[in-house]
Amino acid sequence: MKTNILITGGAGNIGSSLAQKLSENPNYQIIIVDNLSTGSKEKIPISPHNNVHFIEADCNQYQEMAKVFNQFPIHYVFHFAAVVGVKRTQENPLKVLQDIKGIEYMLQLSKTAGVKKFFFSSSSEVYGEPIEIPQKEHSTPLNSRVPYAVVKNVGECYCRSYYQEYELPYTIFRFFNTYGPYQTTDFVIPKFLVAALKNEPITIYGDGSQSRTFTYIDDNVDTMIKIFENNLLTNDIINIGNDEMISVLELANRIKNITKSKSEIVFLPPLKEGDMTRRMPDNTKMRQILNRPLISLEEGIKRLLNNKKFLELNSITKICAE
Ligand SMILES: NC(=O)c1ccc[n+]([C@@H]2O[C@H](COP(=O)([O-])OP(=O)(O)OC[C@H]3O[C@@H](n4cnc5c(N)ncnc54)[C@H](O)[C@@H]3O)[C@@H](O)[C@H]2O)c1
Repeated sequence: MKTNILITGGAGNIGSSLAQKLSENPNYQIIIVDNLSTGSKEKIPISPHNNVHFIEADCNQYQEMAKVFNQFPIHYVFHFAAVVGVKRTQENPLKVLQDIKGIEYMLQLSKTAGVKKFFFSSSSEVYGEPIEIPQKEHSTPLNSRVPYAVVKNVGECYCRSYYQEYELPYTIFRFFNTYGPYQTTDFVIPKFLVAALKNEPITIYGDGSQSRTFTYIDDNVDTMIKIFENNLLTNDIINIGNDEMISVLELANRIKNITKSKSEIVFLPPLKEGDMTRRMPDNTKMRQILNRPLISLEEGIKRLLNNKKFLELNSITKICAE
């Protein structure tokens, strides 16, 4: 019998990349659920093993999700569906908070179905304005009250509580900014790259001194698959992120250089809330599990520029980068 893996948000950036890699194994059957709010059907992998099923449904609607669990015996769940993007989450706080329902429904249905492990996509946003750098999974205080971070925090708490009361095993992934060919231009790397390639203005909130780390999608997906297949970090949390820190202004300049772009850098007023000054994971656990060097920012950007799907999704026909 095949192992049935449900990935919610599987038509999005991280979910579709995970689905793609898992679907290479003919013993897995991947069930993707997505409401296509920020995801798209073009990102759903086509597998030679014919083992990927797509269902358009909303995780925050109990009946729709109950139908999915009735249709397939689900063995593992990766719950990645969420309202994302700093600007979108700031402008739609009530919509963001609706995702708490989806998390509870998914856990409830997983418990009833006897799911073997529930994987939850949390975020570096839970750390908020950093109290210490690097940010450690178990000792760094969580310091954010923005709705998106609160939802992730509540989600983590739900995972722990479902384990405590029903013994549903879980692993929490705290993702730091992860970029890849399927990421939308709501996020900084694709946004800057697409602007640079089209010689359009590159816009920065504030003065660009806020610094970030950027994780190439392959490092993220390879770590998750190792955790999944070796049954690691059960009932535990892991930071998934690169620790190479760069300011947003430096990133814009680096992208301009790599793409030989003529784009102008334009500074916009800073975001009101939620644009942390710094963020960097303690990624000791991730490095141990991955057991190979992480992909550098230069290398990741070059991979994106050579990725046909990335160029196609962003309507880029010609690039001037080396
Ligand atoms: N990419 C990152 O840097 C990053 C960082 C921290 C956390 N995360 C988390 O990782 C997960 C995946 O993010 P991503 O970068 O792939 O974003 P994404 O927008 O590409 O993917 C999210 C997917 O979820 C779908 N979706 C949203 N609400 C839904 C709902 N109610 N029901 C069904 N589908 C729904 C969207 O259509 C989209 O396909 C999210 O939970 C996000 O909060 C991502």
